[in-house]
Amino acid sequence: MRNSSATRRKQKLKRLTNKSVLLGVSGGIAAYKAADLVRRLKDDGSSVTVMMTEAALKFITPLSLQVASQNTVYTSVFQEPLKHISLPAQADAMVIAPATANIIAKLANGIADDILSTAFIAFRGPVVIAPAMNERMYEHPLFQENLKRLLSLGIRQVGPESGSLACGEEGTGRLAEVSDIVDAVVAAVTPQDLRGHKIVVTAGPTREHLDPIRFLSNRSSGKMGFSIARAARKRGAEVVLISGPTALKRPWGVVLKQTDSAAEMLRTVKEETKKGATVLIMAAAVADFRPRQQAGIKVDKGAMNSLAMDRTEDIIASVAAQKKRPFIIGFAAETGGNQERAKQKMQRKNMDMIIFNDVTEEGAGFETDTNNVVIFDRKGSAKTGLRSKDEIADAILDRYLEIKT
Ligand code: PMT
Repeated sequence: MRNSSATRRKQKLKRLTNKSVLLGVSGGIAAYKAADLVRRLKDDGSSVTVMMTEAALKFITPLSLQVASQNTVYTSVFQEPLKHISLPAQADAMVIAPATANIIAKLANGIADDILSTAFIAFRGPVVIAPAMNERMYEHPLFQENLKRLLSLGIRQVGPESGSLACGEEGTGRLAEVSDIVDAVVAAVTPQDLRGHKIVVTAGPTREHLDPIRFLSNRSSGKMGFSIARAARKRGAEVVLISGPTALKRPWGVVLKQTDSAAEMLRTVKEETKKGATVLIMAAAVADFRPRQQAGIKVDKGAMNSLAMDRTEDIIASVAAQKKRPFIIGFAAETGGNQERAKQKMQRKNMDMIIFNDVTEEGAGFETDTNNVVIFDRKGSAKTGLRSKDEIADAILDRYLEIKT
């Protein structure tokens, strides 16, 4: 029973449940990725209806997208009368991926001469465009003018990325990662209750080096901090994520600063919080000690009988001492149920909230996709129960907003 509830909690949170997404595919080589995009949107709980331009038909068949979406694919205004009006009326969001220079020019100028451009002009909800093309096309002033015009109307852009392009050149113009496009769609349908907030989040472990080969570190994977950064961005915050070494991918729309030692993380946190941050969330597992000496060459094992250590500087305490300090949320990783210690830690380090995290509980703490915490603030506490780290992240941000409003 316990296992099955843990398995349930590990299942991916469906962020687009009951949502209906219109996917417009225009004619670029990246159109072949549309089938994967459809699948990922559906995995997140959305229903998807695809509309294709004539040029898109040269790159991927409607049948592939029909099978992926389990829905009719529309390729012409005349295929089923009035679908260009009824489909946009029923959709929660529209995403155009890949968006070519041609479709962007048409949309920016109100040209409605096919199913996709007609549906676009009939749609009143949030639109995400994912441009993909050769770098010189992307940088052309006419294209940039058209893009700017769409963005000024509130249309959201995701990508393009830099790298090797289908034409064989290197540059900016690759379609954004499919997971980033999905995250942008999720953000487009999520209330932006953190808009205007500048949030600095830390994640992952630190490394304290003994010599060029050995270091002291801990088991933090970064998952908890990355979930917080993703959730805050989804809700409209400007997010800087400062992370120790992890295997995780930068969340969409988040500025990622990579650090190594506690001293480096301290320096980066100080720099970033001084740029007008409203909140600091310290989910990183920061080393409390570092070797007194760091050798420039590998230390011979025979020469290492004991290790002299020094305390690292406390990052939270140093930010709390700043004249203009942000709202500070810390974590307390404990082995056992001593919640009193967490509350004392909150007071001692002058935090506004602390997340008590008993890392010995099943499904909680290091490396797992789930967590189970108690959120303490100056007024009281709330248990989250065992939930995905993404859900825990939202619960922490919900509590922060309750306190601030
Ligand atoms: O990364 P995951 O695998 O997802 O695991 C998540 C986690 C278990 C690392 C996370 O949920 C967590 O509990 N992070 C805090 C771990 C920790 O260092 O706790 P602490 O009780 O030792 O420190 C208390 C607070 O002070 C923490 O917010 C810590 O970031 C901060 N700190 C610690 C040392 C230091 N020199 N400066 C600090 O600011």
